[in-house]
Amino acid sequence: MNRRHALRTLSALPLLAAVPWRSAWSNGYPTTVAALRTAREVEMRVHYRYTAFGQKARQEGYLGIAYLFAAFGSAEFIHAGNFGRILARLNVEVAPIQRPEFQVGTTRENLLVAANGEADSVENFYPRLLERIAHEGHDDAMTAVRFAWETEKQHRDKIRQIQRWSPAFFEQVATEIDRRSGQYFVCQVCGNTVNVVPTPRCPVCKTASTHFRHIEPPT
Ligand SMILES: [Fe+2]
Ligand SMILES: [Fe+2]
Repeated sequence: MNRRHALRTLSALPLLAAVPWRSAWSNGYPTTVAALRTAREVEMRVHYRYTAFGQKARQEGYLGIAYLFAAFGSAEFIHAGNFGRILARLNVEVAPIQRPEFQVGTTRENLLVAANGEADSVENFYPRLLERIAHEGHDDAMTAVRFAWETEKQHRDKIRQIQRWSPAFFEQVATEIDRRSGQYFVCQVCGNTVNVVPTPRCPVCKTASTHFRHIEPPT
């Protein structure tokens, strides 16, 4: 399920919310619960996808892009974890999400898939999700969605930087990224993905910069 498909699923929510005998719906936040479940699943799928894209980039010798996918994948994992924790607090069973089947293309193709996915999540998935859950007023859920939304904007912009030079100069760009990727750090609270740790606080979630974790570059 990609983010666009997930949105279509979410549009059926008012119908589901009207079913009174489902325990998950009886906590006062039926729309929020359904939205977070979908978002958690989507984030985990993207996490798995980026992990595979990173491995592919490594095989193809693009270590800088492999590193980027590792960092992005780790941010998506944090978003899924945030959604899962809120669901658990709402007494919703949080089952592990298995790695789904998906296509892994060449690194150039994978970057395009990632760029489209990030753009869709920034422009459609997260703003609509937020709109949908706003009336239930679950503050933590709305905050977690905003964190994910902000992070996806960073991811989208970073990939666009790369694509601006592709496909004509893909080899040169990929090599250039390898040369000057620097390091990646991911905020463990919100998923903020940066090359230099901002101080004294994470600008997205406002927690202390000590929450940033260095992502190990692939070797
Ligand atoms: Fe992302
Ligand atoms: Fe943060």
